[in-house]
Amino acid sequence: MTLSDAAFMALVERKRRGLEHTREEIDELVSAYVADKIVDRSFALWLQAVMDRGLSVDETAWLTQAMASSGVMLSWSDVPGIVVDKHSTGGVGDDVSLIAVPLAAACGVKVAKLSGRGLGHTGGTIDKLECVPGLRTDLSVASFKRQVADVGCAIAQATGEIAPADKKIYALRHRTQTVDNIGLITASVLSKKIAGGAPHLVIDVKCGRSAFMQTREQAHALARMIVEVGGRLGRSISVLITDMEAPLAMSIGDALELDEAIGILQGRAGGRLGEVVLAVAEAMLDVHADQRLSDARKTALQHALRGGAAFRHFAAMAAAQDGNVAAFERPAEPVATVAAPDNGFVTAIDGRAIGEAIASLKNVAEAGIGSRIGIRLQKTVGDSVERGEPLCLVFADEDAQRLAKIALEAVEITRDAPPGGPAVIERLRAEPV
Ligand code: URA
Repeated sequence: MTLSDAAFMALVERKRRGLEHTREEIDELVSAYVADKIVDRSFALWLQAVMDRGLSVDETAWLTQAMASSGVMLSWSDVPGIVVDKHSTGGVGDDVSLIAVPLAAACGVKVAKLSGRGLGHTGGTIDKLECVPGLRTDLSVASFKRQVADVGCAIAQATGEIAPADKKIYALRHRTQTVDNIGLITASVLSKKIAGGAPHLVIDVKCGRSAFMQTREQAHALARMIVEVGGRLGRSISVLITDMEAPLAMSIGDALELDEAIGILQGRAGGRLGEVVLAVAEAMLDVHADQRLSDARKTALQHALRGGAAFRHFAAMAAAQDGNVAAFERPAEPVATVAAPDNGFVTAIDGRAIGEAIASLKNVAEAGIGSRIGIRLQKTVGDSVERGEPLCLVFADEDAQRLAKIALEAVEITRDAPPGGPAVIERLRAEPV
């Protein structure tokens, strides 16, 4: 890559003036930055120009492809069956992957899921899955593919070989407050999925106070961009916008969330988490975009949950990754209970505040112990409460009172019931073009 300082600054200037880049310019920018030929301070100028002026659909598609091509690109053409991947933009208590991946596999598709660790206040699927004793997520590409072919599903860490450009650019965006841009988020999310190689993608865009996208308008704009770019890059892609005003699960904290997910896989009612799981899993099965089969898909999913096939797929996936689900110890007794200060209705739960508190306690706890820190909600948004009734249970070895105080402040109780809303707000879809 031979991009000189002057040529690079000319590209920054172009974007500052609101002009569109060409595909070659985007390729040059990404490959030069990944090859350390542009220093962080300079690349941050381009990111800032993008924040100010945005990226078109074309530019976003080229950026996504350039970032995906910066590392290993997986191919599934040698694996028989329909291969699907799913991704969530992340939120508090988002355990959808832990359940929807084995559930969809139990209904016949192959699920190749590359996942990440927690980011900020949001927990990561990998951290939660690793609470299964012995379970490894650092699979080689060959074992990942073999497992998807043989077991039907695998959840593995997206290693440094997958879309390294995203890792580098994301870290700089984080340090320079340039995360919050639709084009950059789309390229970040989709580059990893394009490199993962699955021809069918389901993306769950979380919307609300406990999520990245706080408003419906932002979530809709992101969903539209993801659908357009995914289709242009040759994928059949469904995007769901799902509500994340409050934490999705009733548990927050790695081992507690895994425990709740296992319960749902064994057929327990899942509340709003269960609703989103079924919608995402149904989209994973709907690779031919055939609405007429929607009822049949729903029935198959219910059977897989109630009849044990979903849990058996989860246990088989864990075993193939050296984990032993039978050895997973349910989290011990809580150390504190947070009681409702008033009569009324739970109107809001600030999942971000609880998620941040748990993340900071985990950072100071020893590895292993950290996974057992958490909160189990006893009430969620819309529930009525009486003064003194338990709002949530606290699990922690130290600092339990601090966590209890944060949880108490995070739950808003009002006299009137809040307006209810659906867990799945919108569905968008595109076919490969
Ligand atoms: N998740 C990602 O992977 N990237 C972003 O930029 C935001 C959310």
